[in-house]
Amino acid sequence: MAGDRPRVLVTRTWPEAVERRLAERFDVTLNPTDVPLDEAALIAGMRDYDAVCPTITDRMHAGILGIERRRAAIVASYGVGFEHIDVAAAMAAGIAVTNTPGVLTDATADLALTLILMTARRAGEGERELRSGSWTGWRPTHLLGTSLKGKTLGLVGFGRIAQATAERARFGFGMEIAYYARRPGPQELVDRLGARFVPNLGDLLGEADFVSLHVPGGAETRHLIDAAAIAQMQRHAILINTARGDVVDEDALIEALGTRRIAGAGLDVFAGEPNVSPALRGIENAVLLPHLGSATRETREAMGMRVFANLEAWFDGKAPPDRVA
Ligand code: DGY
Repeated sequence: MAGDRPRVLVTRTWPEAVERRLAERFDVTLNPTDVPLDEAALIAGMRDYDAVCPTITDRMHAGILGIERRRAAIVASYGVGFEHIDVAAAMAAGIAVTNTPGVLTDATADLALTLILMTARRAGEGERELRSGSWTGWRPTHLLGTSLKGKTLGLVGFGRIAQATAERARFGFGMEIAYYARRPGPQELVDRLGARFVPNLGDLLGEADFVSLHVPGGAETRHLIDAAAIAQMQRHAILINTARGDVVDEDALIEALGTRRIAGAGLDVFAGEPNVSPALRGIENAVLLPHLGSATRETREAMGMRVFANLEAWFDGKAPPDRVA
């Protein structure tokens, strides 16, 4: 009976298996149009539902979380990043917040490697050339890229996704691993990878052939990679970003790519998604993907099932496994 069941609002279209599961357990309102909800709809959601389930594109700011006569006591977000939620405002209002960690590690690491390979082997340029009909045939000096074996992958951040990226790069492609993080990573993994801890970001940027970003978004990491940081990279180095667009100063990156201050960039995330600067779109030595890091059927289902697990625990009076606030 719908009346006895917690009311749950889902803001975007989710994989069918997850929507089915939610509908079995909750009185759920889905969004089959997949059109993002506006602020008024999110406020109404907080007022009329027991739980609101946004995604990383719904900005859950203090004006939405702090409303009067609120009914929702949990915001169960679909995605691992949660900088779109004002966690301080949620805590002040006594709202629980959960995310979906762990389940998108492999998919995102796979995509980091996709970008490393595409940039190293100039796959985007090659595909554009072929599709445009301007390929003139095989020749010894055509679109020469760079090999991965023996090259240093410098990881900025050493959490789950960075570690999975390192494993693939080390054991799949014979790369050397160095990483910058607040503290050294798990000893067993570090030993197995032969990974070097570099306690200074500038030093890591100066020695890496590929720099891959794996830090969370938010005020603390905004423009961590700015003009000064890029200036520390080697001229032949390639920047990979599967983390958050804001971590990189995009204007500085455009300038560096345009002047060949660095050799290339592979980007899955952008500062103003879904708007990507025309200047960036015009740069040949950049591979640009539309935020596909976790976009496998298996992963997106697993993310939804984690939201389900968080909701189920909450409404059973237990601690949600992925509570961040
Ligand atoms: C996340 O979950 O934070 C990713 O950016 C999208 O999968």
